[in-house]
Amino acid sequence: MKTTLRTHNCGELRIAHVGQEVTLCGWVQKSRDLGYILFVDLRDRYGISQVSIKSDLLPDLYDQARKLGREFVITVKGKVAERESKNLKIPTGEVEIIPSSIELISESKLPPFKIENDTDGLEDLRMEYRYLDIRRPKMRDNLLLRARVMKAVREYLDAQAFVEIETPFLIKSTPEGARDFIVPSRLSKGSFYALPQSPQILKQLLMVAGMDRYYQIVKCFRDEDFRGDRQPEFTQIDCEMSFVSQKDVLDTFEGMTKHVFKQAINVDLPDFQWLSYHDSMKYYGTDKPDLRFDCKIIDLNEVMGGTDFGLFNSLLENGGLIACINAKGTASYTRKQTDKLTDFVKEPHRGASGLVYIKYNEDGTFKSSIDKFYSQEHLQKICEHAGTEPGDMLLVVADKSVNKTRKVLGDLRLQMAREEGWIKPGTWSVFWVVDFPLFEEDEETGDVTFAHHPFCMPKVEHLDYLYTNPEKVIAQTYDMVINGNEIVSGSIRVHRKDVQDKIFDILGLSEEEKDAKFGFMLKAFEYGAPPHGGCAFGVDRFVMLLANESSIRDVIAFPKTAGGRDLMMDAPADVPPEALKDLGIKLDS
Ligand code: AMO
Repeated sequence: MKTTLRTHNCGELRIAHVGQEVTLCGWVQKSRDLGYILFVDLRDRYGISQVSIKSDLLPDLYDQARKLGREFVITVKGKVAERESKNLKIPTGEVEIIPSSIELISESKLPPFKIENDTDGLEDLRMEYRYLDIRRPKMRDNLLLRARVMKAVREYLDAQAFVEIETPFLIKSTPEGARDFIVPSRLSKGSFYALPQSPQILKQLLMVAGMDRYYQIVKCFRDEDFRGDRQPEFTQIDCEMSFVSQKDVLDTFEGMTKHVFKQAINVDLPDFQWLSYHDSMKYYGTDKPDLRFDCKIIDLNEVMGGTDFGLFNSLLENGGLIACINAKGTASYTRKQTDKLTDFVKEPHRGASGLVYIKYNEDGTFKSSIDKFYSQEHLQKICEHAGTEPGDMLLVVADKSVNKTRKVLGDLRLQMAREEGWIKPGTWSVFWVVDFPLFEEDEETGDVTFAHHPFCMPKVEHLDYLYTNPEKVIAQTYDMVINGNEIVSGSIRVHRKDVQDKIFDILGLSEEEKDAKFGFMLKAFEYGAPPHGGCAFGVDRFVMLLANESSIRDVIAFPKTAGGRDLMMDAPADVPPEALKDLGIKLDS
């Protein structure tokens, strides 16, 4: 990596370079002074090279080097020599530099945390000094991996005739179910742009424009409550294709995912399964199940009746659901352990009223927390129904809401996998969930809302339901799920003005609202819209999984905190009163 200032980088030198005169530049990772000899580890993006200075042979350089602090930037000129004691754990570990000069380029204050993988810096501090954090090999490697992923994506899409087109950031709202970030306009006081939640409408208009295959690696902005896998600004690989069926889109992006896995982390993925939304909810209690381990939810309604257990009888009579998972090999759990699981399902956001266990003991007997109501024969029947073997334990949840029972068991399934180590490190589960409903009920208001966004095409055979039973409409919508995370989302789009109009009606939009929000889009559909569809990858989540990290912040160079703050720049921040005046904005207080 030769430049005018250096001949090599710090990760480059090998035994073949012994005897060469070299110039290296970098940061002082650390120095070790043994009295008769001093070692300086010099670091840059590419690696670490050792500089070795014997005090008797190079007394002046030795004195100079003793003054070097951590993270000082220096230039070292010298000769490559073979090390007496080699370190085969690092690629440059067979050689060292015997310096002829050391030039100090920049001093450094003492860093506020250790610049090593195993750092003592807490996350807030690492975010405030992100430029130091990125010097740590782990963060550096994550960013390099991210770049490899982008490169592989471009390679693949370019080869498939996709064209990269930029779309604007200062636009009108494109709805994805979150709040918009809005930007006041100075030239039209009192008016606002919205930052795109995604380029959804624009990419559809590019299909009307005949571009046929579009992609963009693009920032999206959503003002929502942030969690470990969400950021207010995040990156999508946004794609759209014309004259395609759902299968064409899924095959294309299955191909892309396999290509990226191979190029970025050298993993060959098997062909993807398609799991219906209905089955995903029924068997795993979620639309993004982790299938790295088995353990389906098993309905028990048909085997739970015929006892004096009033609670279950009443649930059975009133359309509730009693279901379980088979926690294999956990019949030996103690009371304390099952109590902990009971606490887990009862946590307020899950809200189960309790947890029943049925143990199929190794000695062939059955033990349950509802022994009082269920005979040994009855417990045996339940265990047979659930396919249990000696040593297994059924964890049973019951609720009058079928969905709640499933959701709680879905969470419990994951919890058991964590506790019991059911997930083998290094395994991958990548598949499509398909056939989502078009509409859902808004959890807060109870109103009809869209499940993905309002531009998803119903299955052709469900078009009539738009006019009779909208809640039954299944859309041509799909998600890609990787290790229990939703990474990609997409659909075949509505390209017919009448269908789009009807969907807006069902969502309760008046003619004026339709016109104000989406008039430009409906107008475009009057000028020859091709059938089209596409999807968007959440890059941050995707790279997080490939990097084996648990937070997307660890794969973003300059992320925001969970509270939406940039701790390094200290944003959001006040603006001068004149700037607000120019924008015609008055703040309260
Ligand atoms: P969707 O809203 O599902 O679909 O977003 C696509 C993918 O983007 C990622 N994602 C996020 N990542 C980090 N932080 C966030 N706040 C965040 N929100 C979403 C997820 C998600 O699967 N226009 C449609 C796509 C389409 O239909 O083509 C869309 O934006 O990984």
